[in-house]
Amino acid sequence: MSETAPRVPDEAESEDVVNPWSVSSSSGKGVDYNKLIERFGCTALDDGIRQRLQSAIGDTPLHHLIRREIFFAHRDIAPILTRIENKQPFFLYTGRGPSSTAMHVGHLLPFIITKWFQDVLNVPLVIQLTDDEKFLWKDMTYEEAFHLAFENARDIIALGFDPKKTFIFSNFRFMGQCPEFYQNIVKIQKCVTMNQVRGIFGFGDSDSIGKIAFPAVQAAPCFPSSFPFIFGAMKDVPCLIPCGIDQDPYFRMTRDVAPRLNYPKPSLVFSTFFPALQGAQTKMSSSDPNSSIFLTDSDKVIKTKINKHAFSGGKATVEEHRLLGGDCDVDISYQYLRFFLESDDELDRIKQEYSSGKMMTGELKKILIELLQKIVGEHRAKRAEVTDEVVKEFMTPRPLLL
Ligand code: TRP
Repeated sequence: MSETAPRVPDEAESEDVVNPWSVSSSSGKGVDYNKLIERFGCTALDDGIRQRLQSAIGDTPLHHLIRREIFFAHRDIAPILTRIENKQPFFLYTGRGPSSTAMHVGHLLPFIITKWFQDVLNVPLVIQLTDDEKFLWKDMTYEEAFHLAFENARDIIALGFDPKKTFIFSNFRFMGQCPEFYQNIVKIQKCVTMNQVRGIFGFGDSDSIGKIAFPAVQAAPCFPSSFPFIFGAMKDVPCLIPCGIDQDPYFRMTRDVAPRLNYPKPSLVFSTFFPALQGAQTKMSSSDPNSSIFLTDSDKVIKTKINKHAFSGGKATVEEHRLLGGDCDVDISYQYLRFFLESDDELDRIKQEYSSGKMMTGELKKILIELLQKIVGEHRAKRAEVTDEVVKEFMTPRPLLL
């Protein structure tokens, strides 16, 4: 069956909305990811896969985002594992739609895991900044979108990617620099009908033709021939894409098209969403400043936002809390610690103490506040070191170490 065959969701499924433009759930625990796996037709990232990845990479422990099942699903990761085991080449591909100057901490997740993969596997990486996508979807000028791509590149570079192995590009600029990229886009466009994009993305008669054509632009970097300066004549190097599950529709489409172009299908690993401070019903959004911790927030702002807005799974009174304990499943401060606190022992201890009522919400929030202040503070310092020259280097088409 074609991976893009649209399925009509049943009643229960329809409560979770997950697509590239919106994510929401009616449950405080957030989106039901098991149902999503079934609905999207991807596969759970289970113990078997984790063990195989662990033995393929040797001594380095799996990243906590993988250990804690925040990266919870995949498509076709087995061929990539085989390549790792056989020391054959592949590359990493991820991206970001630059919609605001300030990225929030949730935006870092795909990049954190991508960097980890790059560090342990030593492979080339391409990062697409979809300034064109944001121009088409948002109320934004071309100049703003283009500018934001560069500002966001600075944040991404600050995470410590290796310039010898990383190419970051703005679609607006790269399109004019690399005919092979545009050729692939048009080849992909020729393979996909209006009927198919309507089924996959829900486009309708009043959507601009720019939106309808865009999915091919996000698909093209999956193919090594889009980057002749990196891969030369190597046409069969496949890619692994770490991304949020909301991006899956683009790559379902890509995987359908690939064999028709004689190109390798991309493999994917998917993360869950980073919840909004107000609760797991929605993901963090840059458009609501109180729903997110931004990389530009001061220590004071971080403290106030968490104390004031982070949804608590604690009980209403001290007595009740001591007696019954807090609910980690809905407690946003605890959930954020799962994403950012590296030590499993420390996280277990917090969970145990909070859910038994020994630890109060205030103490839990204090741990999170200090951790995020540290992470955001370190990011701020590293970002300040990323000069225009450095950004330019990362964004110049050039050979990378293979
Ligand atoms: N569409 C993505 C967004 O809005 C950006 C993106 C482009 C991307 N290519 C990607 C994300 C590849 C993940 C993987 O954020």
